[in-house]
Amino acid sequence: MNRSATPAARLYPWQDRKGEFSALKAIVFVGVFLPGLWLVARAMMGTLGPRQMIEINHQTGLWAVRFLLLTLAITPLRHVWRWPELVFVRRTLGNAVFAYGLIHLVAYAGDLAWDVPKVISEIFARVYLTIGLMVLILLTPLAVTSTNGMMKRMGGLNWRRLHHLVYPIILLAALHFFLQSKLGVTEPIVITAVAIWLLTWRLLAAWLGEARIATLPATLALGATMTVATAFGEALYYYLKIGVAFSRVLPTNFNPAAGIRPAWIIGGIVLAVLAVAVFRRFLPAKKSARRSARQPGVAAKPEASSQPQGNAA
Ligand code: HEM
Repeated sequence: MNRSATPAARLYPWQDRKGEFSALKAIVFVGVFLPGLWLVARAMMGTLGPRQMIEINHQTGLWAVRFLLLTLAITPLRHVWRWPELVFVRRTLGNAVFAYGLIHLVAYAGDLAWDVPKVISEIFARVYLTIGLMVLILLTPLAVTSTNGMMKRMGGLNWRRLHHLVYPIILLAALHFFLQSKLGVTEPIVITAVAIWLLTWRLLAAWLGEARIATLPATLALGATMTVATAFGEALYYYLKIGVAFSRVLPTNFNPAAGIRPAWIIGGIVLAVLAVAVFRRFLPAKKSARRSARQPGVAAKPEASSQPQGNAA
């Protein structure tokens, strides 16, 4: 596996920039295929239900938005976890978002019996579908420019500016998700809360510096704030949607019989992030991680391959 590491050498998605096998890249590369393969397996077993295409549409939409959040989480996590190599899986995740988004649209067309004029008229007739289309359109230049060649051609600054599109993209995707939800809004609330958490982290990092905002106390403080904000956000949603008073929704967060609340999921994610951060601080630091911890603003170099790091978020 020790292929040449010259900048022109083509690397496989499971290789690091030295051309060596990277377990992290391999796991993420295989991982992004799993939801799709599971759908194929369900189709073969005939367990997709009566409306197979709409089930594929739902599952691919969910995975597109989950991978989008993971793409956006890479920068905060590599600082909080002191794991600079995480940046090398961002492109794989970003490309997965686009691929699942496209399959999502294709499955919708399939559900409408491939009646393209109807698909187009539906998209422009329903606001949540128009927003979905906007998300897909905004994702397109990010996918097209996700190669090292395009990065070079555009120049680092322009490329990074373009990839800041990921921020409106995640907010629009969350809105698309919310607007199509009927009864269960736990996942849209969680997705929106994580998106706001990640965007807040970015703003604070730009204001105070990544070194200050990536510490354990800062991570705990921001995570705890987001957990409480999620509980209030859920109560606000029910108040605006069906007029239920805050005093009826907020106490459900302390009542296990009321089911899993979005704030619990956010709290669980905060604890998981902190647990990994604590664990990694006990690991013997690698040279690159030490350098990153000393200079948290310094990004790891792009991969010397035809596969750049994906969007710059
Ligand atoms: C032209 C583009 C798009 C169209 C036509 C479209 C269409 C749809 C439709 C028809 C649904 C199901 C609505 C229902 O069952 O009532 C849906 C749900 C959803 N879409 Fe999209 N969508 C588009 C783009 C996107 C993109 C780019 C993303 C993510 C990045 C996305 C994420 C989602 C999610 C998360 C759901 C909810 C799935 C669930 O609750 O199970 N969509 N979309």
